[in-house]
Amino acid sequence: MKRITLTQFLIENQRKAHVTADLRLLIEVVARAVKAISCNVAKGALAGVLGEAGSDNVQGEAQKKLDVIANEILLQANEWGGHLAAMASEEEEGIWKIPSDYPKGGYLLLFDPLDGSSNIDVNISVGTIFSVLRCPRNTVEPNEASFLQPGTAQVAAGYALYGPSTLLILSVGNGVHGFTLDREMGSFVYTHPDLEVPEQTSEYAINSSNARYWEPPVQRYVGELQRGAAGPRGKDYNMRWVASMVADVHRILTRGGVFMYPMDEKNREKGGKLRLMYEANPMAMLVEQAGGAASTGRSRILDVQPERLHQRIPVILGSRSEVEAVERCYREAREGGG
Ligand code: AHG
Ligand code: MN
Ligand code: MN
Repeated sequence: MKRITLTQFLIENQRKAHVTADLRLLIEVVARAVKAISCNVAKGALAGVLGEAGSDNVQGEAQKKLDVIANEILLQANEWGGHLAAMASEEEEGIWKIPSDYPKGGYLLLFDPLDGSSNIDVNISVGTIFSVLRCPRNTVEPNEASFLQPGTAQVAAGYALYGPSTLLILSVGNGVHGFTLDREMGSFVYTHPDLEVPEQTSEYAINSSNARYWEPPVQRYVGELQRGAAGPRGKDYNMRWVASMVADVHRILTRGGVFMYPMDEKNREKGGKLRLMYEANPMAMLVEQAGGAASTGRSRILDVQPERLHQRIPVILGSRSEVEAVERCYREAREGGG
């Protein structure tokens, strides 16, 4: 079978007017940065990149060396190409302005440079998540407010998964497409056309050490899954939790399931655990584009109007029927029936 590369895929999409020349450049540059991050992740201890960086990010989380390296790779790769108006990162408190000696473009790029960083030192899969927005028209100097657009405004979203192979999963609004890094050729090869979240599933992902902190509707939903064939769902469920959102979401895009990092009593003050703009929104776009659903339990994630760059949000996403079952538990609890 003749396989095409990411470059060919993007050029074909540009010809069909699904992507502009600048968006094509942006995705190519992100893919190049992902290759560099992949090299660092793969070398691990050989390159001295494991362990703590000795600093905290804006969210008060201890940074790993690879969090810092991946962030720098993405910022440096993207700042000079002329396709971006500004960037935002999990590891940067404010927005990242394009230095004045480079031209500016019309897109905003947001990213979680290294997702699942608690897994770095134990050699378990980690990833990179990114989201692309248009800079609002007539913006002279982008500021944080320029980024505060709902997930429905994303023009592209994707993630890289640094697993046994390195994958780039992408949506520009016409389905979800996956590419595998061919390390010898140095190119991403189109290996996973039109990914779809399987509708029938019997797998769920949640950190159940937080069970006592969950809201009652989530306790009810997970309790029903755990009762298996004898319970109201009438079948046995399996549980998986990698603790790298990218790896958990990739499993769901491949074989179905539901991923939950819900509101709980430990994270209520912060609004949730995962970040809206560079974790929840891009993953929600990918899952919806693959035929699944993404919700806070109370409403669709992509409709949420962000108020802050580093805002957090509850996340329930995956196979549509399961996401709807969680929403039903919330609705029935509101109506006094659950
Ligand atoms: P990050 O490494 O970018 O801070 O994200 C980690 C996130 C996400 O990838 C994962 O699903 C979740 O945190 C794991 O949380 P727990 O350690 O609470 O299970
Ligand atoms: Mn993350
Ligand atoms: Mn991260």
